[in-house]
Amino acid sequence: MDLYCVMGHPVEHSKSPWIHARFAELTGQRLQYGKRLIPLENFAQSLAEFMNDTAGTARGCNITVPFKFEAAALASQVSARARLAGATNILCFTPQGIHADNTDGIGLVADIQHNAGVALAGRDVLLIGAGGAAAGVLGPLIEARPARIAIANRTHHKALALAQRHRALALLQGTELHTPYLTGLTGHFDVIINATASSLSGASVPIPAGVLRPGALACDMMYGPAANGFMTWAFEHGALPRDGLGMLVEQAAEAFLIWRGVRPPAASVLTELRARME
Ligand code: ATR
Repeated sequence: MDLYCVMGHPVEHSKSPWIHARFAELTGQRLQYGKRLIPLENFAQSLAEFMNDTAGTARGCNITVPFKFEAAALASQVSARARLAGATNILCFTPQGIHADNTDGIGLVADIQHNAGVALAGRDVLLIGAGGAAAGVLGPLIEARPARIAIANRTHHKALALAQRHRALALLQGTELHTPYLTGLTGHFDVIINATASSLSGASVPIPAGVLRPGALACDMMYGPAANGFMTWAFEHGALPRDGLGMLVEQAAEAFLIWRGVRPPAASVLTELRARME
């Protein structure tokens, strides 16, 4: 039986084992997917143990907080999008070695375009935040070819650095990149993506509601209680709120496709997962 797992700290509440088990059932793939709580200082050794202790049946793993930034260093091959993101959320064990990739951004784009039904091409997008979560999704957002992406972050120089790293890709795709100050933010946007951790500290939404176009899509990359503040704020100001659960399922679907060569039915698994969480 081919083995996979998610490695993180904490990992107890991860929904990935359920999602991948459902994908496997629905596509007739034989695999097992577990979760491994990894000691904070022990990622490299834990990865080696997972690969060596499973009698050659381990085929790959997902990487979550806080190991996304160090996983690529253990890989023999790193995809261009993982390199640009500076983070890895999936490892694939191949006869040639370990391949590192990142499906977070493509997962967010798939959720926005396929599940929420909003085409990004030609739109005005606001990305709030410039930390790891924002960096993980900016490349695939640009590849969806919006007219403009504004990156606004509390610490302005981080937004500048993130934009700088993506300039060449944006030029190639014909997308304008802007880095307005978060304070006093103006303009109007069709899609707003909250990639800040502000809700975790109980802070309010750090942007004025005037930037939402009527009917704008307002996505939080988190789900559950952490997304509630942003979702309520968006709804109260006439936007369409969306949490990060769809992104979670879609990034898993992209990982499943990489590992198994089969695209699972992500939209129906998302519907099931939502029903389970209610
Ligand atoms: P993650 O991996 O979740 O992105 P991170 O790399 O620590 O975590 O980034 C957190 C992001 O949330 C940053 O963009 C941070 O802004 P700073 O770069 O100024 O720290 C943003 N953030 C956290 N708390 C915030 C708040 N109260 N208001 C606005 N932005 C906040």
